[in-house]
Amino acid sequence: MPIQVLVTRDFDHMSEVAAEIAKKLIKQTLRSKDNCVLGLATGNSPTGVYKHLIRAANTGQFDSKRIRSFNLDEYVGLPGANEQERVMHPESYCYFMIQEFFGPLTDKFAETHLPSGCLIDQQRLVRELKTYTQDWRELGTDSGRSIAIKAEPTSEYLGWVRNAILKGYARRIKKAGGIDLQIIGVGGRGHVGFHESGIPFKGSNVMLVKLDDDTVSNAVADGHFSSEKESPWYAITMGAELIYKAKTVLLLASGKRKIEPVAESLLNEPTPDLPISYGQTYAQKGGNLIYVVDKIVGQKLLQSKTALRQKSIKIKDLS
Ligand code: GLP
Repeated sequence: MPIQVLVTRDFDHMSEVAAEIAKKLIKQTLRSKDNCVLGLATGNSPTGVYKHLIRAANTGQFDSKRIRSFNLDEYVGLPGANEQERVMHPESYCYFMIQEFFGPLTDKFAETHLPSGCLIDQQRLVRELKTYTQDWRELGTDSGRSIAIKAEPTSEYLGWVRNAILKGYARRIKKAGGIDLQIIGVGGRGHVGFHESGIPFKGSNVMLVKLDDDTVSNAVADGHFSSEKESPWYAITMGAELIYKAKTVLLLASGKRKIEPVAESLLNEPTPDLPISYGQTYAQKGGNLIYVVDKIVGQKLLQSKTALRQKSIKIKDLS
């Protein structure tokens, strides 16, 4: 399907336009089956859309009891002495989702899922990875790497991470029938979820990832953690191949930091160096990809209209 790009005025307008698209898709889906499966993201980008969706659900525009949701990712290694404390850490993605979306709903979603990153003890993980080097290999060309644990590893702990945490999450998504609408933001250097720059696309299902240095420094710069030492170094994430299996992918981007990755993701050939560029492959295979961006991000794309048209990408200026 042709990729659509909608250029909006600012963050609020972007959120309004994207929420209208999301609402329409949710209602359509709920007319054709019992429930609608949403793929959700954290970060600042989707917060406005969530506010609109909360209002729509709470005023009866769709039945939130018929929604099931799966989040893209969760940190491993949040500060905390145990699983409970890590889940309740204010920077956990569980906490974020309850605060920004799930909590204010009058009728709660039927199910909400996040990868169980908080169940992993980062110190133990690091120890097991150091001891059982034959059990895993790193995939990636940059500092953010996917840690591929082999089938039937010697380490029982790594076996549990692989089967219960990674494969378990992938199984739950499959059992739910896949994702109808996936909302994504854009990470530093164009990562999606925590599918970091340089991690290969092939086989990128649910992954254990050693985070990129740039991701860690952005988390500190954005005020999420007080220092790089306090900041988690690992995460569990859906990979690009899984994210872009959704029936529709809605990408949100605003602000200066997103100009380059967003433009390159559409103008250049897809490359794992820029994970969101996988969207082009997804669209070629028939996926429905919609970018909703503010005019700071959109400016560069509007200047490249001809190049986009040659790639059959439709761009509309709503700003
Ligand atoms: C993190 C998340 C991504 C998100 C990114 C950007 O890296 N794992 O899913 O897209 O932050 O966040 P923001 O929307 O705040 O720029």
